[in-house]
Amino acid sequence: MRAEHFIDGEWVRPASGRTFVTIDPSTEEPICEVGRGDAADIDRAVRAADRAMHGPWAELAPAERGSLLCKLAAAIGEAKEEIARLETVDVGKPLKESRGDVDGVVATLVYNAGAADKMEGATIPLGPGFIDFTLMEPVGVTAHIVPWNFPLGMAIRSLAPALAAGCTAVLKPAEQSPLSALKLAEIAEAVGVPKGVINVVTGYGEEAGEALTRHPLVRSISFTGSVETGRRIMAAAASGPKPVVLELGGKNALLVFEDADLDRLAEDMADAAFGNSGQVCSACSRILVAPRIAQEIGERLAARAARITVGPGLEDRDIGPLVSVEQHSKVMDHIEDARRAGGRLLVGGRRPVHLQRGFFVEPTVFADVDPGWRIAREEVFGPVLAITAFDREEDALSIANSLGYGLVAGIYTRDISRALKLARRLETGSVWINGWFIGGQQAPTGGIKDSGIGRERGLPGVRNYLQIKNVGVRL
Ligand code: NAI
Ligand code: MG
Repeated sequence: MRAEHFIDGEWVRPASGRTFVTIDPSTEEPICEVGRGDAADIDRAVRAADRAMHGPWAELAPAERGSLLCKLAAAIGEAKEEIARLETVDVGKPLKESRGDVDGVVATLVYNAGAADKMEGATIPLGPGFIDFTLMEPVGVTAHIVPWNFPLGMAIRSLAPALAAGCTAVLKPAEQSPLSALKLAEIAEAVGVPKGVINVVTGYGEEAGEALTRHPLVRSISFTGSVETGRRIMAAAASGPKPVVLELGGKNALLVFEDADLDRLAEDMADAAFGNSGQVCSACSRILVAPRIAQEIGERLAARAARITVGPGLEDRDIGPLVSVEQHSKVMDHIEDARRAGGRLLVGGRRPVHLQRGFFVEPTVFADVDPGWRIAREEVFGPVLAITAFDREEDALSIANSLGYGLVAGIYTRDISRALKLARRLETGSVWINGWFIGGQQAPTGGIKDSGIGRERGLPGVRNYLQIKNVGVRL
C-alpha cells in the first residue's frame, strides 16, 4: 500500500511528508508505512469534498447514485479475498471473519443503494390557500471517523448511507487499521466514483481526526469509538454547530432465567462474548443469571470458551490477537484487577502459552463477580466474560441499568411476555431476545446514555445525511 492520501480523485503525499507504520498484531512486525495526515491534508480533502457537492455528483439522480453504489458493491465483492487478507494482516482477525466482514460491506452498500431513491418527503395540510411540502436534501460534506475493530465495515456503515443521500465524504480510518480504507479508495476510483466524493486521509486521531471535526466546511460527523473521544468530538462539533452520530460502545448485559435454553446460550456466547476477540461494541460482556442455574451456566460457558482456538489471523483459528499492545495491556490489567478483587477465574486469564509474540489473550470467564467491580462496570474490549448471580428479576434489571452505558441488553427465557416486559424497561438502544447480534444493515443500531447519540443502519441511517427543507406556497 502507498503512503499517500486519496484526495480529489488523486493519490497525494501528506503535506508534511511524514508517515507512520501500521503493524500486524499477530506478529508485531511492521506491514508498511502510511501517510500521517494533519490539518493541511484534511483541509485539502474537505475542500475537494465541498467542490464535489457542486460538481457532476450533484447532477446524478438518486437512482443513478444507487447504481454507482451497486457497482462499488460488486467491485468490492470481486476483491473480497484481497481485502480480507489486508484486514486480517492489519488487525489480526481470522480470515473467515474478514471474509464475512466483506460480505457485510457488500450487503450494506446494496441496501443503501436501494434506499437512495426512496427517501421521500411529505406534504403538510395547511388548508385550501396553501401547498406546503418538504424536500429531503443532502447535508453536504460528511466526516467519518472510524475505529479498528471492523475497519471497512464501520467505514461503509456510515459512508454508504451518506453517499446514498447525495453527500460527499472524508474518511479518517483508525491509525491501527488504515489499509482497507486505502483499498476502498482504489476501488472507488476504478469504478468511476466522481472525484472528491470519497476522500481518504490516514493519520492519528489528535491530528487528522481532530482537524476533520473542527473544519468549518464539514456539515456532519459520524464517529464510532470510545466515550471519551466521542465527548471531545461533540465539543468540537459545537463550533459548527454540526450534527453528530456517535456510537460509543457498551458494557452489555445478558439476563438469563431458569427456563432459558442453555445449550443454545452456550453456543451463542462463543461468538457473542469472544468473537473478534471481544473487540465489539455490542459484545456480551456481563451475564446476570438466576441463582439456581449460576453454577451450571459457569460450567457450560467455561467448557465452550476452552474449545475456542486462538492463533494468528492468517492461520484462521476461531479468534486472533487484540489489535495493539495498548489493548493487550488494558485487557490484561482488567483481568488482573478482577482476580485481585476476588473473581473466580473459570477459564483463560493469560496469554496462550504457545503464542509468545502477538497480542493474544485466552478467552476468559470470571464467576462470582460483584456488580460493583471494575470488570462489571467498564468496557474491557477483550475476550472476557463476567458472570454475576442475581436474586430477583428486579435486581437483575437494576444491575443491568446501573451503568452509564446503554448500547445493548439481552434476555434468554422461554417466557416471551416476561422478555417483552423487560425489553421495555432495559435502558439500551437495542434488546436481543434468545439470540445475540440480531440484526444487520436493515435494523437501526445505536446507544442511549453514554453509549451515544443517533442511530445507524436501516432507513434512519440514511436520514442522518438528509436535511429537511420546507417549501410553502400561498395559492
Ligand atoms: P478512540 O475512540 O480514541 O479512536 C477511535 C477513532 O477516533 C480513531 O479513528 C481515532 O484516530 C479517532 N480519534 C481519536 N481521538 C480523536 C480526536 N480527538 N478527534 C477526532 N478523532 C479522534 O479509541 P481507541 O483509543 O482506539 O480505543 C480505546 C477504547 O475505546 C477501546 O479500548 C474500547 O473500549 C473503545 N472503543 C470502542 C469502539 C466501538 O466500537 N464503540 C471501537 C474502538 C474502541
Ligand atoms: Mg495494523
